[in-house]
Amino acid sequence: MPVTVLVGMQWGDEGKGKIVDLISEDQDIIARYQGGANAGHTVVIDGKQYILHLIPSGILREGKKCIIGPGVVVDPAAFLAEIEELKNAGIDVNGRITISPKAHCILPVNKILDKANEDRKSQKKIGTTGKGIGPTYSDKALRLGIPFAFFLDNTKLEAALAASLERKNSIIENFYSGEPLDIKSVIRDAKEVAKDVIPFIEDTSQILADAISDGKRVLCEGAQGTMLDIDHGTYPYVTSSNTVSGGACTGLGIPPKKIDHVIGVIKAYTTRVGEGPFPTELEDETGNLLQGEGAEFGATTGRARRCGWFDAVVAKYAVRVNGIDEIVLTKLDVLDSFKTLKVCVAYDLDGKRIESIPDNISVLERVKPIYEELDGWDSKTKGATSFEELPQKARDYIAFLEKISGAPIKIISTGPGREATVIR
Ligand code: IMP
Repeated sequence: MPVTVLVGMQWGDEGKGKIVDLISEDQDIIARYQGGANAGHTVVIDGKQYILHLIPSGILREGKKCIIGPGVVVDPAAFLAEIEELKNAGIDVNGRITISPKAHCILPVNKILDKANEDRKSQKKIGTTGKGIGPTYSDKALRLGIPFAFFLDNTKLEAALAASLERKNSIIENFYSGEPLDIKSVIRDAKEVAKDVIPFIEDTSQILADAISDGKRVLCEGAQGTMLDIDHGTYPYVTSSNTVSGGACTGLGIPPKKIDHVIGVIKAYTTRVGEGPFPTELEDETGNLLQGEGAEFGATTGRARRCGWFDAVVAKYAVRVNGIDEIVLTKLDVLDSFKTLKVCVAYDLDGKRIESIPDNISVLERVKPIYEELDGWDSKTKGATSFEELPQKARDYIAFLEKISGAPIKIISTGPGREATVIR
């Protein structure tokens, strides 16, 4: 399969890091197409935990090449810190990571503005990660962004930073009543931190085109999840990029016809970090149990994740908008101690049953889940490596999810480690 896209089917945190690492074994290149260091991909290998925010999880597989595409926004300091951590963990990163010159640079001021924007009393909180993602994509859309290519042309860089700063300073002074930033020090600091990123810059679009025509295998790694997509998610409670499979085309420059496989990753229950509608949320003991058993605390911000039952309406929607060919079901073992399980099969809207995600957030905020109850297996699946090992009731749960979601479940994750995986 030359080009595969892997996406999250819920609100992020589906456990994509482990799955990317797993699938990377058979890939040549692993490429990130959107987002930035707001992602938190956790991978456990031989009991050792690695948390990656920006660099594709494929870096943990020896010899695999990793690409950060034009659709990604890169915080140079976060990138360099991640490289350092990988080196300290004994991972050889030499010549294995390339950043597109078209990827945009996250300036420190954008992290300040991200937080300041969230603190505004007049605006509803989104609950962003505070990593400067939204302001950097906004700059890009305003044509005031700083792609890494600009760092290769001093005159262009200084003019672009001056233009961007002029606007930002006006916002800081007039809107946030803050102190304006000194343009000279912003330029100096930006150059200082970016200089160590420059050696990683190369035309990733050409690298990918050559690799694809040579028959190499490329895995496009999505971050966040379908419901956080800026166009297809629960706007405005979304991230600032296209997380869906189509984002791989725009975010990497790979033509749609070259993509031949889409894998969706979904948790055996649902979680969400940050604000926004979440129909199956459980604000009770059951929610707390899921949070505790699933260690549902953000890998990037440490925030507790909101937890709830599996939402099949979301799953069906994700299968549709991403064109998912196969599903990877993660964290099945988290449900091991439950006597009964609920799956949301439809929503109730003022007494009317609806089976698809409403295209209006005001409606989604009002719906109530309609549940079907299933028996739990109340026994251990943790660490299972074959389908036959799973208790019948766990197999029934999987069969139910598969049928209602509309795509086959081919891989089941039963624990954080590489080995705790069932491949059907
Ligand atoms: P931002 O991406 O930092 O702008 O945050 C926008 C929304 O996306 C917030 O609700 C975040 O909690 C959420 N978000 C961003 N990245 C992730 C992620 O990797 N996993 C889960 N939620 C995320």
